Amino acid sequence: MSSTLVSASLLSADILNLEKDLKSAEESYIDWHHVDVMDGHFVPNLTFGPPLVHALKKVSKLPLDVHLMISNPEEVLSQYLEAGADCLTFHVEATKNQKNLLQKIRNHGARSGLSLKPKTSVKEILPYLEDLDLILIMSVEPGFSGQNFLPDSIKKIEELRNLLKKYHLEKKILISVDGGVSDQNAKALTQAGARCLVTGSYFYKAKDRKQSVAALKQYSLEV
Ligand code: DX5
Ligand code: ZN
Repeated sequence: MSSTLVSASLLSADILNLEKDLKSAEESYIDWHHVDVMDGHFVPNLTFGPPLVHALKKVSKLPLDVHLMISNPEEVLSQYLEAGADCLTFHVEATKNQKNLLQKIRNHGARSGLSLKPKTSVKEILPYLEDLDLILIMSVEPGFSGQNFLPDSIKKIEELRNLLKKYHLEKKILISVDGGVSDQNAKALTQAGARCLVTGSYFYKAKDRKQSVAALKQYSLEV
């Protein structure tokens, strides 16, 4: 049994009190901070940039799980590595240089991740299996927190897990899921194959944050 990781998305934190919320998340026993980077082009929203990642890195006791929702990630990827991303994920749909970029991330000593929008087939990851540490399945259309979970994502995670099993990579490549995650779907997601649950509004808006993390972590996957 490996215990489920919880990555809390700062997109749902209080942006005027980010450090306070970051500390509160750490005291609630999350595993990673999820940092959603949006460029107003790949998605219709604009958020954080490298200076913020750099600033977070200085105060965080936990790894920074940076999720790039930007077009042409090759243009700025290094800046996020330099700023201190511990895990750097970009979208398979956003570039043609997937392999190069994944290798660049690993060479820098970070975990390499590819993310898939809800309508993108899991087969898109096949050419990159040897360069991947993490696959992030989007269970909402990327762009905003607080959206409703898309139930088809559960089947998609199962399909991805079976595919990884076929290549004996289910222990090596971590399946993460992002969007509308809560105590309502944590069990199904974990059983389907997710080993990391990203949570924005469910965690940051919870009355009892510690309890919300415990609720997400109560199911673990045997790998
Ligand atoms: C959406 C972001 C998510 C979002 C999750 O584009 O990638 O990480 O912050 O927020 P919730 O959990 O509220 O859907
Ligand atoms: Zn995200």
